Amino acid sequence: MQTKVFKIDENSIDINQLRQASNLIKDGQLVAIPTETVYGLAADGLNPVALRKVFEAKNRPMDNPLILHISKLDEIFKLVKEVKDSDLEILKKLWPGPLTVILKKSDIIPDEVSAGLDTVAIRMPDKLLTRDFIEMCQVPLAAPSANLSTKPSPTRAEDVLEDMDGRIAGVIDGGPSYIGLESTVLDLTSEIPLILRPGFYTKEDLEYYWPQIGYDMALKNENQTPKAPGQKYKHYAPKARVEVYIGSSEAFKIKAEALRKQTSGRFGLMYFDQDGPLAKADLNISMGDMADLSTMGKILFTSLREMDNNNIDLVVVHGVLENSYGLSIMNRLKKSASGRVYYLED
Ligand code: TXA
Ligand code: MG
Repeated sequence: MQTKVFKIDENSIDINQLRQASNLIKDGQLVAIPTETVYGLAADGLNPVALRKVFEAKNRPMDNPLILHISKLDEIFKLVKEVKDSDLEILKKLWPGPLTVILKKSDIIPDEVSAGLDTVAIRMPDKLLTRDFIEMCQVPLAAPSANLSTKPSPTRAEDVLEDMDGRIAGVIDGGPSYIGLESTVLDLTSEIPLILRPGFYTKEDLEYYWPQIGYDMALKNENQTPKAPGQKYKHYAPKARVEVYIGSSEAFKIKAEALRKQTSGRFGLMYFDQDGPLAKADLNISMGDMADLSTMGKILFTSLREMDNNNIDLVVVHGVLENSYGLSIMNRLKKSASGRVYYLED
C-alpha cells in the first residue's frame, strides 16, 4: 500500500486535500492525523472493519481500547449513556484540549473501540485542522497514537512514516505536536474522578475543576492492575538501552562521565541546559531548562527516535522528580527505560 502524505498548512487549510483524506476514512481506511499531543492513527470510530485495521497496523493488543475524537461538544451525547451537567460545564472550559474523559458508553459504540469494557474514552483535540477533518468525516474518529505498539509515540509526520509507511492509506502532515505527550486520561465513572494516565493536565491543574480527584492506584503501585489497559504494556521503547538518572546537575555530570568511560558502544545523552558542559557523547540532546519541563515533554519521544536513527546503544537521560508535570514525563520515561531509573546522591 502506498501511504499518501497530505501536507496541510493550518493557516490556509487546503480543503481539497482534506476532502481526499476524509474520503479514505469514509472508505474504511486509516489516516494518521496531527493533534496537539501526538499524532493519532485515525479510523471511522463506528466502523468495526476499519477499527480492526487500526489494531493490525499498530500490532496493538485487541484488549486495549481506543479514544474517540470529536470536533464539537454536542457529539458526546450520542456516544455516552450519561454525562453530568457539572462535568459538561468543565469540559466546555477544558476542550478542545489534551484531556480524555472516560464515560459509560452508549449502544452505538463498537466493541472494537471499548475492547469489551462498558465505558468509552472521548477527547476533542486542540487543533483546528484536525477538528475540521473530523467534521468533514462526519463520524467520531478512533485514534490511538500512530506508532507501532511498544515504540515511542510520533510527534511529527516523519515519525509516523518511520513506523507506518506502507501500512496505512495516508498521513496528514500538520506540523509538529506542540505538547508532545499524550492526553491526560480521566475516569469520570468512578466515585471520584481518577487520573488513569497523567498528561499535560496535572492533578494540580484538574483539582481546580474537580476538587475531589485522585490517581488510579496503579500509577503509584506497580503491583496493581491499571484501569487504563494501555498502561500495562511495554511502551515507548527505542531500540537503544535507556537509563534514567535523577539528581543534581553535578551528580548527573559525574555519572554521565563515568558511564561514558565504561561504555564501548555508541553513547547518547539527554540533559538540561543547567547540566552542561557534559561528557562528549555520540549524540547530545538538550531538553531545555530544568525549571520548565515543557521542552522535555515536547521533544522526549522525538529524541528517543533520533537516538535510534543515530544507532546509539546506550541513552543516558537526566530524569526529573515525579511530581506535577514531572509525573507525566516520568510515566513515559520509566517505560522507555524498562524501569531502569536511578536516584543519584549528591
Ligand atoms: O493524546 C492522546 O490521547 C493521543 C492522541 C492521538 O489523541 N491518543 C492516545 O491514544 O494516546 P492511545 O490509544 O495510544 O492511548 C489511549 C489510552 C490507553 O492507555 C487506553 O488503554 C486508555 O487510553 N483507554 C481508552 N479507552 C479506555 C476506557 N474505556 N477505559 C480505560 N482506559 C481507556
Ligand atoms: Mg499509545
